This record gives sequence, structure tokens and C-alpha cells, in this order.
Amino acid sequence: MTERRVLLVIGGGIAAYKSLELIRLLAKSGVRTRAIVTNAASHFVTPLSVGSLTEDKVYGDLFSLTDEAEMGHIQLSRSADLVVVAPATADLMAKVAHGLANDLASTALLATDKPVLMAPAMNVRMWLNAATQRNRARLAADGVQFIGPDDGAMACGEFGPGRMAEPQAIHDAILAFYDQRAIGQPLAGRKVLVTAGPTLEQIDPVRFISNRSSGKQGFAIAEALARLGAHVRLVSGPVALADPFGVDIVRVESAEQMLAACEAALPADAAVCVAAVADWRPESTASKKIKKGADGPPPISLSENPDILATLSKKKSKRPRLVVGFAAETNDVEAHAKQKLAKKGCDWIVANDVSGDVMGGDSNQVMIIRADGVERWPEMAKTAVAGKLAAEIAAALA
Ligand code: C5P
Repeated sequence: MTERRVLLVIGGGIAAYKSLELIRLLAKSGVRTRAIVTNAASHFVTPLSVGSLTEDKVYGDLFSLTDEAEMGHIQLSRSADLVVVAPATADLMAKVAHGLANDLASTALLATDKPVLMAPAMNVRMWLNAATQRNRARLAADGVQFIGPDDGAMACGEFGPGRMAEPQAIHDAILAFYDQRAIGQPLAGRKVLVTAGPTLEQIDPVRFISNRSSGKQGFAIAEALARLGAHVRLVSGPVALADPFGVDIVRVESAEQMLAACEAALPADAAVCVAAVADWRPESTASKKIKKGADGPPPISLSENPDILATLSKKKSKRPRLVVGFAAETNDVEAHAKQKLAKKGCDWIVANDVSGDVMGGDSNQVMIIRADGVERWPEMAKTAVAGKLAAEIAAALA
């Protein structure tokens, strides 16, 4: 096997300390890292500690005069299989989105012909700022892949999206990149339908029934399938996630709309139902806001929603060749998932234990249940689960 090499651009943010752990994890997996430390980053991590871990020279503007003699920025930007930016600051994202090249990091990012993976890290307001979101969308459209940011407490004392993905998750995404590169585009010419997110069932114009599904796992699966060459139609309920790159997305609200959008996507070679479809919807939706009255809370009678997974699995015509369902359980995961496989009529169930913080979180531990047995996967990032599942789907359709 040829040596695997990553060029790591460390941007100037407090999360830069986590990039040291990333280098260590990559080294343990046999991936060599060469690092560019921006001037701002060198206030957070010293080039000496980075270089001790990479066992290589560290590149930065402070040394660029001699480096240009030894290795130019063009060669540096292409000396790796993948360029990883962690932490990707708002400033670095903005520079790359606009093609600026006024320091070594941005010059290397502009000059590279290799895939780029960014792990953004910044204050929540900076992340949610329209300019950053515009840059993120621009970069995604240009083919940059993203991991994170995660939700959580931030160094600045605020709370929300902006924390850099954990080093383990970035490491897993990098290994998934190598796995995918090894298998190429086996799904070219195939069409796959993916459902994701919660559904929203309207009670009246302002109230609804829904659930806490974030859509992260479904979006990651859609993206992973697209990377393997599939034409992916992603039907998503309301989520706070940007359109994934290279995926044809249809956004819906209710379960009935989701089912209609799925039917419209057929024929498909495979369907992966990740959505947390609401089991019930209000029998009727009030056309005006229900008033708070003296009689206490109004009764809301519910009707059963269509089961999209079961409907697709039991179709007489146009049934996708492979139908995959998900099962979120809090106890007796395997037994319940086996029952679900039979009841829904699908081919595989991906079961996970949601008694922890899987919903909305970034990692997942799953087992794959098929008629002929159970496969247990270790805990990994949702993006890594997506990559591995996409590879198995490709193998099943081959
Ligand atoms: O029955 P339960 O909700 O546990 O089943 C989970 C699986 O069924 C998931 O794959 C989910 O996407 C799918 N499902 C569906 N339509 C429903 C309910 C669940 O597609 N109404």
C-alpha cells in the first residue's frame, strides 16, 4: 500500500489544540500528516508541538522564504491525498470561498488539485452569520466537504453550533475518504431514494407535532451514496441542515407529503428510509389558530400516518430492489429490530440504541439486521456509518 498523506491546515482558533490529537490519531492509523500552521494558529499551538507530532517540518508564513526554495506552495498543496482544514475559521472559509491567496494556507488551498475537507470552528453567531453561511454554501457547491460544526458549549461561553467536530470524527471521515477512494464509483448509473429528518404534522397554523430527529444521519447517507456515483433523491422533513453536495433534495413537511415525494421518485434501485416519520397526525388541521378557552385544552384526535418504509417494501410494482429501514430503540434493540424487519417487509434494518444522545449527536453505534444474520459495527461518526453503509449498499446492488 502506498503511504497515505494528509495536508492539515491549522487555522487560528481555540480549537487548534484539538488538531494535535487529530495528528496523533491519524498517525496511529498509518496516515502521515504534513501541517501548515497559519500565523493566527501559532498563537494557539506552537509549530514545535505540531512538528513533534507530524515528525516533519511545519510550514507557515514565518518560514515561507526558505520553504519556497525547498518546496513551493504549489507542490506542498499537492503533496497529499487530501487537504484537511481543522479548525476552519470563518476567515479561512471566507478566503477560500472567494479565492483569496494572501498567506501560505490560503495560497495552498487555492493551488491544490486535491479534495478538501473542512472542520469549521467558530463562535455560534459567526457560524450563523449570513456571510459565513453563504461562504459555506459556496464552498460546498465548489466540492469542499464539511464535517461539523457540532452543537455545544463554546470557549466564549455561548452555546450552539460552532464547536469543531471531535478529532475522532474528523479522523473517521478521513479514513472514510480513503475507503471510498479505494472502491471508486460503483453506484454510477443507479438511483437511490433516501428519507431523512422528522416530519411535521400541523395542528393549526402555528402549532404542530414533530420529533427531535436532526436529519444528520440521513443527510450523511445521501452524501455518501452520491460520492459513490449514485443519483440520490433525498426527501427530507424540516431540518436545519444545508443542501448536501451532489444530491437532489426535495423538502417536505408532513408524512403524507413525504410519501408522495417518495412515490414520485420511483423507480429507484434502492431506498433508505432514515426519516423519523411521526406516527400520528392530527385528524384535521384547524384553519385558524385554536383559541385558549375556559373549557381547558382542546382534545386533539389523531390518525395513523402512512408507513413509508412498509409501503415501499410491499409495493407490487416498482419496489426498489433493496429497501433499508432504520430502527431507533431504547431497549432490546436486536429483538425489536428483527420483528421490524419482518413486519415492514424491508431487506435490512439498521438498528441503533437511542437511549443515549444519538438523536442530534454526531456519532452512532449500529447493527445491521438481515434475514441471514446480524452485523455489529463499533461506535463511529455518523459520517463514517454513512460511508460504510453506502459501501454495503453498493456491494448489494453490484
Ligand atoms: O416503526 P418505526 O418508526 O420504529 O420504524 C422505523 C423505520 O420505519 C425507519 O426506517 C423509518 O424511516 C420508517 N418509517 C416510515 N414511515 C413511518 C414510520 C416509520 O418510513 N410512518
